[in-house]
Amino acid sequence: MITLSHCQELDARDPLAHLRARFAQPSEDTIYLDGNSVGAMPADAPQRVQELMTRGWRDARRRGWSYFDWMEKPWLLGEALSHLLGARPQDVIFSDNTSVNLFKLLAYACKLQPQRPVIVTERYNFPTDVYIAEGLAHFLGGKLQLRLIDHPDELPSALGPDVGVVYLSHVDYRSSYRWPMRQTSALVHEHGALAFWDLSHAAGAIEVALEADGADFAVGCGYKYLCGGPGAPAWLYVKPEHQEKDWPVIAGWMGHQDVFAFAPTYEPLAGVRRHLNGSPSILANQAMSAAADLWKLIKPEDLGAKHRSLSELLVQLLQERCAVLGVKVTSPLDYSQRGGHLTFSHPGAGSVTEALLAHGVVSSFRKPDSIRFGLSPMALSHVDVWTAVDRLVHVMESGVWQEPRFAKVSV
Ligand SMILES: Cc1ncc(COP(=O)(O)O)c(C=O)c1O
Repeated sequence: MITLSHCQELDARDPLAHLRARFAQPSEDTIYLDGNSVGAMPADAPQRVQELMTRGWRDARRRGWSYFDWMEKPWLLGEALSHLLGARPQDVIFSDNTSVNLFKLLAYACKLQPQRPVIVTERYNFPTDVYIAEGLAHFLGGKLQLRLIDHPDELPSALGPDVGVVYLSHVDYRSSYRWPMRQTSALVHEHGALAFWDLSHAAGAIEVALEADGADFAVGCGYKYLCGGPGAPAWLYVKPEHQEKDWPVIAGWMGHQDVFAFAPTYEPLAGVRRHLNGSPSILANQAMSAAADLWKLIKPEDLGAKHRSLSELLVQLLQERCAVLGVKVTSPLDYSQRGGHLTFSHPGAGSVTEALLAHGVVSSFRKPDSIRFGLSPMALSHVDVWTAVDRLVHVMESGVWQEPRFAKVSV
């Protein structure tokens, strides 16, 4: 049986343990296992934003563009993240949100091979991913089609000479199934298509290697495991060889070769920065800079090892202590097939999630019977995982989750 002291020993050996002190503790006694929705707040984020409000907005105003790094932040943040994505610093930028970045890069990717007008994706990909692809096809009035697969095994037979882009979430937002990026990108390339990945449930949680694993395009959220704050800008990556093949889909002035020349016609900036379009979200970027300074302290292999350790621990604890109480781990049991969170089922999952909340554990419920625990390797300890499972055991063993006050389930 796994003991609390075993978890304490794991924490004592944790190379990322020092990062926990760099996050603010919430005002309530909470173990936050929903970092796959909104990640933890770096302790100095409020002060950084406050400083921008006073020195930047109140005092400098327009002069802030030259006094501070407002213009440069989209690529400075990208540089800070790049090693955790396995990308070169100059190949990543932050801008817009994930949905907009999906649209910008998907349309760009499709245009690279117009003779291949089919996008392959999963029917149950995260909704915005599917909607963006549907919307693009709709916008193009039938010149582009979607081919939807229901299971990873169907991918090989969906590939053909008409497929231009295979567009997948690296980690499934419900089951946490992780596609093998290297083998999948290689398969996609063998069939002449481009590999497009959404890493929203991977970046900042597990080790990824975009360049080595053959990603042509990638995007991801800034507010989940990357801890950039609610509504934080998202990131995008373009493989070097594709960066200058075409104009960006949104040819805005911030992606112009010489922004302040106010030239009458568009000339794209070199490299991935051409996908910037309008003014950056300066306040949001400032909040995220606190997290970016933490990313810089992390070795990708340490992030991966810590996440694996948390994730394996959670599986073991759930199996040892909760299986008899009706819990079944539904995420893949092989760690290499799992992403940031772990999903398990219980017949009363909605009410259990509500009862857990009242017992100081924030997690998320997905209909009909799934609970997701998001495991942030930056902000969580092994003891947090142990405590959360201990509270889960209490909630289920005592039957407290069946009380009427937990019948109304919020999503
Ligand atoms: C896999 C995935 N892609 C995209 C999004 C949406 O991102 P955004 O709100 O930044 O458009 C989410 C949000 O949870 C997500 O899980």
